[in-house]
Parts: sequence; C-alpha cells; structure tokens
Amino acid sequence: MNEHSLKKKLSKLDIGNLRYFDSIGSTNDEALAWAAAGAQDLSIVIANEQTQGRGRLDRKWFTPKGSGLAFSLILRPSAALRPYLSRTVGLAALSIAESCSGLGLAPRIKWPNDILLNGKKTAGILIENIWSGDDVDSLVIGMGINVYKSSVPPAELLQSPTTSIEDALEKKTPAREEILFNILSALIRWREHIGTDKLVKAWEEILAFRGEQVQIHTGTGDPTTGELLGLESDGSLRLRDAHDKSIIIRFGDISVRPSA
Ligand code: BTN
Repeated sequence: MNEHSLKKKLSKLDIGNLRYFDSIGSTNDEALAWAAAGAQDLSIVIANEQTQGRGRLDRKWFTPKGSGLAFSLILRPSAALRPYLSRTVGLAALSIAESCSGLGLAPRIKWPNDILLNGKKTAGILIENIWSGDDVDSLVIGMGINVYKSSVPPAELLQSPTTSIEDALEKKTPAREEILFNILSALIRWREHIGTDKLVKAWEEILAFRGEQVQIHTGTGDPTTGELLGLESDGSLRLRDAHDKSIIIRFGDISVRPSA
C-alpha cells in the first residue's frame, strides 16, 4: 500500500482529499487538526503504521507496519443529517461489516463499536467530534481493521479475544486498498440512508449477542444485566431485565459481554 496505489484504487469514489503517511502517531489526531483547518467532507488520513494509535477508554490500538488498515474519515454533516449523528457509529460498523460479508465472512457488531469475526474482535471504531458552539462542525471516524495476522497484538496486550481477516478467511486475503475501497463504498451508500429505519434495521440484524443475557459495564457501579433485545432508533441499546422491564443504554463507555 502506498499513496499512488491508494489514490488509483479510490479514484472512482466521490471522496475528498487523501493524506497518506508511511508512519504516523495517530490518524485521528491528524484528521482532527485537518478537519479544524477546514478539510473537505469525506477526506481521509491513512497510515501504513501507527505508533500512538488510540482506542476507546484510553486504550491503545496497534497497527504495525504493513499489517492492517488504520484510517480516519472526516465527515461534515449537512443540516439534513445532523439529527442522525448518533447513528454514525452504526454507519461505520455496518460499512466494515459489509466489506467482511463481501469476502464470505459472517461479521457481527458488538455494540457499540467493535466488529467481530468468529466471536473475536477484528476492528474497532473511535469517533471524535469537532464542535462549533453547540453544533457538531465535523466528525472524525477512526477505523482500525486487523487485516493480516501480523496486526494481532501479542496475547498479553489484549483486552479481549482478537483476530484478523486473514485468520478468518480460508482464501487469499485481498489487498488493503481493496478492503478500504469496499468499506468506503458501503459507507457512502449507507450515508444516504442514515435518516431511515433501513440503516438501523441492517445494523440491528448483525448485532452480536441478540437474544442472549448480557452485562453492560459503565465503569462505575455494578453492571446492568439483561437480555439484549436490539436497538432504539437513535442507536441506543435495548435490554430486558429480569423483571421484564425495558432498559435503554444510551451513552457511555459500555462493553457488552455474555454473562457467565
Ligand atoms: C477501539 O476499538 O477502541 C477503537 C480503535 C480505533 C482505532 C483507529 S485506527 C485509526 C484511528 N486512529 C487512531 O488513533 N485510532 C483510530
């Protein structure tokens, strides 16, 4: 993967500008600065290696050279899209998941931001906003995808079982440019539907742990336990507790785990 091969592959897509780095600290940091300086909608920062990759909950995200996809997409939402910004994580997750389905895999979305293959984490999403007063001026969607086996960190650094597309595939792994093209095509297509139930339905259909008892950890206090029912229209998670009461999980740094 290099700047030339990327630009060639992505030339048919209606994206903004592209900044390629052979090595960078974090593509999200670069994209946030670029967005603040006025980058066009759908501009992309992508790197062959990240040395300070960031995940949610202050976690690190590893992208050794040549091993995976680490990129950040800048979105400048139109007024029509603003009411649906809480669905952006679903838009991103669905796009990664569809690129995996296109390879014959069966991805699941572990709410809110992980993509699983064979029950193991393959990709994560980190969304950061730039505000203009009370409005979101732009969003940076950071996506990290473990493409080759070399992207999976050593076991002692893992928070949860992790895999790569190469591990899950029984055939040759496509080039990273190809996978990126498929993710961006899906995202551009799905963004047209961000205000429709169709997007939430498609997102809900591949939600991991549906119908199972799960625990929601918010970082403080005891976890909330219940049956994972699905999604609300804003992308919040809906559970049913032991008293048959509906519980909506809206915000926060939440992870979902099957209960023991
Ligand atoms: C997570 O699983 O917690 C989210 C991981 C997000 C990683 C991506 S890689 C590209 C972008 N740049 C970063 O520093 N982080 C995101």
